[in-house]
Amino acid sequence: MSAIQIQGLRPLKGTVGIQGSKNAVLPMMAASLLADGVTVIRHVPEIEDVFSMMGILESLGCKCSLEKGVLTVDTKAASGHRIPEEYVGKMRSSCLLLGPLLAGRGEAVTYYPGGCVIGKRPIDLHLYALKRLGASFFEAGGMILARADRLRGARIRFSYPSVGATENAILAAVTAEGETEIENCAREPEIVWLCRYLRSMGAEIQGEGTHCIRITGVKELKAGNMQIPPDRIVVGTYLCAAAATRGKITISNPPEGELDAFLEVYGKMGGQYNRRSGKLIADGSGTAFPVPFLETDTYPGFPTDLQSPLMAVLTTIPGKSRIRENIFENRFRIVEELNKMGASVAVSGREASIQGGTCLRGCTVRARELRGGAALLVAALAAQGETVIEGCSFIYRGYEHICEDLASLGAQIEEDTGTAFL
Ligand code: EPZ
Repeated sequence: MSAIQIQGLRPLKGTVGIQGSKNAVLPMMAASLLADGVTVIRHVPEIEDVFSMMGILESLGCKCSLEKGVLTVDTKAASGHRIPEEYVGKMRSSCLLLGPLLAGRGEAVTYYPGGCVIGKRPIDLHLYALKRLGASFFEAGGMILARADRLRGARIRFSYPSVGATENAILAAVTAEGETEIENCAREPEIVWLCRYLRSMGAEIQGEGTHCIRITGVKELKAGNMQIPPDRIVVGTYLCAAAATRGKITISNPPEGELDAFLEVYGKMGGQYNRRSGKLIADGSGTAFPVPFLETDTYPGFPTDLQSPLMAVLTTIPGKSRIRENIFENRFRIVEELNKMGASVAVSGREASIQGGTCLRGCTVRARELRGGAALLVAALAAQGETVIEGCSFIYRGYEHICEDLASLGAQIEEDTGTAFL
């Protein structure tokens, strides 16, 4: 596995652009199966998860290309319904294809995605929603066989506002017969973008961003053509890097209003931010105040995907901070690696107590999942000496140019291939 080397203690400064949103583009790529023709999605990041989704679509007979951020998916020759097991293990979002395959083919074969480092990641809510719409499922040795002669609109009431299950329900309902009502649905920006995208394809959807989405099934949809938004989690990660190094950066293309809960905490730590002519200027030089208590929540609460990068910032702030992780049951694995660097974080169940202000020292650490890997990058930027981050392929699953971006902001960073991003 490749590694990244970083010499810390250089305050970041400068301007950086943000890649397209990983978590917005994946369900939009799955939606391409709902229409015959050539889907065009722009500002698409060249990251592992996008390549995996392209691989699955190609295994289903689609023709995909991704050049300079422009993704095309030609579904004219698509006919398959089997999702290759190799992809299911690599990327949980493969289960988002269940809805479109049942809608368009009436059948799908996939596998249980299995858990990952951050949690068990079950898909019971996905299966519940699709059953409500008329699908039936048979399981054999981890394989899932799904069938549906005709999906019919239904009332779906989620016990928990799962992002992925909401996306699967929407993808299945847009061409189902009749009305669908999805109650207690997720309200994340990625849901709003998926609904906007599907509406541009001819879907009839209302209520995205609220607790209830209503859909009237239509007979057919036309291929989509849209630009995806900048990745809000990448923005938050870069602002954490600026705060940890007490630097000041400008984000040239921030998403509109998708980071309020994070920015509120950023301000509480002493960071300053303002928008000017469409840019977001974040000054982390005043970062000095611990956060007595913070908990992650579903949108519009504090995003779980920024919990680890924020923890890395809190280890640099003298005083006691406390974080409660409410979304994933195992999102504190990264603590062990941060403590190796000299942090003082103690975990008890769903809560982590951070005694910040200890001196972080570079050493060799290992990333085991995407956002924990990003947290190690943030900590390495604030550490004395050189840090080597192994397993950085996890980081590249979601961050398109993170080494180049950080280098352009003044970080001294290179990959083990000796590629210095100067
Ligand atoms: C999406 O994952 C994101 N991934 C995650 O980002 C993000 O952390 C998460 O939403 C929460 O915002 C993508 O969009 C590709 P959930 P998803 O279903 O859909 C439980 C990243 O770093 N649950 O809202 O899997 C589940 O175990 C990734 O970019 C069930 O119990 O999130 C978890 O505890 C990580 N049954 C909680 O709900 C189900 O059927 C949240 O899961 C589904 C989920």
